[in-house]
Amino acid sequence: SNEKTWSGRFNEPVSELVKKYTGSIDFDQRLAKWDIQGSLAHAQMLQQAGVLSEADLAAIRQGMAEIAADIEAGRIEWSLDLEDVHMNIERRLTDKIGDAGKRLHTGRSRNDQVATDIRLWLRDQITDIQSLIQSLQAALVDLAEQNAGVVMPGFTHLQVAQPVSFGHHMLAYVEMLGRDFERMADCRKRVNRMPLGAAALAGTTYPIQRETTAELLGFEQICQNSLDAVSDRDFAIEFTAAASLIMVHLSRLSEELIIWMSPRFGFIDIADRFCTGSSIMPQKKNPDVPELVRGKSGRIIGHLTGLIMLMKSQPLAYNKDNQEDKEPLFDTVDTLIDTLRIYADMMRGVTVKPENMRAAVMQGFATATDLADYLVKKGMPFRDSHEVVAQAVRHADEAGVDLSELPLDVLQGFSDLVAEDVYSILTPEGSLNARNHLGGTAPEQVLLQVRRWRELLAG
Ligand code: ARG
Repeated sequence: SNEKTWSGRFNEPVSELVKKYTGSIDFDQRLAKWDIQGSLAHAQMLQQAGVLSEADLAAIRQGMAEIAADIEAGRIEWSLDLEDVHMNIERRLTDKIGDAGKRLHTGRSRNDQVATDIRLWLRDQITDIQSLIQSLQAALVDLAEQNAGVVMPGFTHLQVAQPVSFGHHMLAYVEMLGRDFERMADCRKRVNRMPLGAAALAGTTYPIQRETTAELLGFEQICQNSLDAVSDRDFAIEFTAAASLIMVHLSRLSEELIIWMSPRFGFIDIADRFCTGSSIMPQKKNPDVPELVRGKSGRIIGHLTGLIMLMKSQPLAYNKDNQEDKEPLFDTVDTLIDTLRIYADMMRGVTVKPENMRAAVMQGFATATDLADYLVKKGMPFRDSHEVVAQAVRHADEAGVDLSELPLDVLQGFSDLVAEDVYSILTPEGSLNARNHLGGTAPEQVLLQVRRWRELLAG
């Protein structure tokens, strides 16, 4: 005999291979809690609409409470014969309460049920993710405050460009994560719409009250077209795109941490608990965590590609293809949550080495632009000052010294506009302090931004 709820139409049971191939219980069981939540609201609405009796509703509530407790206690055995989480729970309910359990699926299909479950689940995950983004931002803001006055080389093309504050560099990532937070909030609005009531694809003949169900489930809106409600997973794609951008941002920071921790740079150290050794090279301390974040960013971008490919070319309305949305989506959420969590801890375990950063600034003629600006302020056109300073840099490079180490008469040999006051702008600190405007790298501005972010994060 075949246990399938839909087996009445068939002459033979599906093969074991097909059962495994089409079943989703191995992975969709994690939706159980949200599936029950959706069912309870649907049942209550049906009772209010006069479709279910009060006794049936009471039985459903009682049975579902027991099932929820069984799941919580790990007392439930999921059955592949019952295909997915929806039919496992429904069968269990019916075993417990009889006919009332069989009435639960009135005016509903697994198609609107599963779309609802995913949205309920994802909505909760987004809330967690948003708070994890903010914890990471808080760690970066603390690091920025502690190092507002620490000067490091700012790079373009990974060549020394101009001095920047290490705090300013950290705050660049706080800005990126701020936009990531906004993207999650925005995505959540479109996740938070209710498919229930769409049934299989065309709606239902029962006098359902979708507003009631939506209200019970805390949905902000109701999907307005039944075909669209059951078939589109754009909300999942959108979420995975937002997740991919977070991972891209963290991958960029990871790349920097890895470079900065290389002894050739020696800008930072990462606490031992985030690093591992080598089985052969006794001296090694490897930045495994940032390396894995860099690697896992590829994994999430892969899920985005997978989900968007899954959706393309699907005719309306529901197709079983959509069952394939779950594993990539679940893995995106799990990977993202683990990454955000570990990253906030790791950034609190970063030690900054200001001497090495400053030494690197001194090796790269990082204040050359400052000297050019100095000459402009004394009357020289910028294009000319650019050329004059290039000559001075070439000279200093040959002499193996920094611009600030050239004697006054030598500097004056390049332009008679140079005076004693030039040395204050040629130091890395002078260069930093001179960029004292909104968005600039001056420590004073960094501290203003630290305060701004503290207020935003305190919400
Ligand atoms: N397990 C299915 C999914 O994940 C549930 C919906 C199945 N609906 C159907 N008519 N086969 O999408």
